[in-house]
Amino acid sequence: MTSLDYVHGYTEDEANRLADQAGTLADLLHHDTQYPAGSLVLEAGCGVGAQTRILARRSPSAHFVSVDVFAKSLALAREAIEREGLGNVEFKQANLLALPFSEATFDHVFVCFVLEHLRRPEDALRALLRVLRPGGSLTVIEGDHGSAFFHPQSARATRTIECLSEAQAAAGGDSLIGRRLYPLLRSVGLDDVQVSPRFVYADATRPGWVDGFTRKTFIAMVEGAAEPAQRLGLIDQAAWEQASPT
Ligand SMILES: C[S@@+](CC[C@H](N)C(=O)[O-])C[C@H]1O[C@@H](n2cnc3c(N)ncnc32)[C@H](O)[C@@H]1O
Repeated sequence: MTSLDYVHGYTEDEANRLADQAGTLADLLHHDTQYPAGSLVLEAGCGVGAQTRILARRSPSAHFVSVDVFAKSLALAREAIEREGLGNVEFKQANLLALPFSEATFDHVFVCFVLEHLRRPEDALRALLRVLRPGGSLTVIEGDHGSAFFHPQSARATRTIECLSEAQAAAGGDSLIGRRLYPLLRSVGLDDVQVSPRFVYADATRPGWVDGFTRKTFIAMVEGAAEPAQRLGLIDQAAWEQASPT
């Protein structure tokens, strides 16, 4: 993957959005993620370290190896971990499709919001399973943009979300991957697969979710698709501005 075919891009705004997303969703996504003392965990596609910080804090006696293909994101991730004084993470630049580790190196593997961007997520899963020891665990967290609905429903705002999905598909990804995680994981030979759906609900009585999720995570993500969507001719600028959910 290059910065050209990653639909969310590698801008400072996107780095901030990933941090907001991880912070807002921390309890929802991670309340049941804890790795045993002494275990070695691979985090694949760590980006700017937004999930890494949460993982490393929640499992202070586990050791994490966090990899990403994009060097600039890794540098930001390293800074974030050093700033927090966390000593249980090492970073490595690597393509998760060609990991520089021997078979069965890791006790656990964690991957979050990455498979949705890959042309062949099955290949990625096989590459991750190669480095996972027998009896270890693989945790996959992915979204599904088709599961978003609102009141009042707005056809124009819905169109911008579709544009994001179409731009992501044009780059080889699948923003609706959440609904097919079970068959995907089974297709690579896993037979003990447990899916735990997590939902976000926001209204005025939950201002933290309105700000942290609706505005800073979801709307910010859709807004980030304005450039690729217009470049691909999916929508023109005037229609985008009218439709924008902000
Ligand atoms: C949406 S970001 C998610 C980052 C992080 N997991 C999080 O949840 O904040 C996707 C990340 O996957 C990385 N990525 C995509 N393809 C990759 C590959 N083949 N090998 C390693 N990293 C990859 C991207 O560089 C990007 O940092």
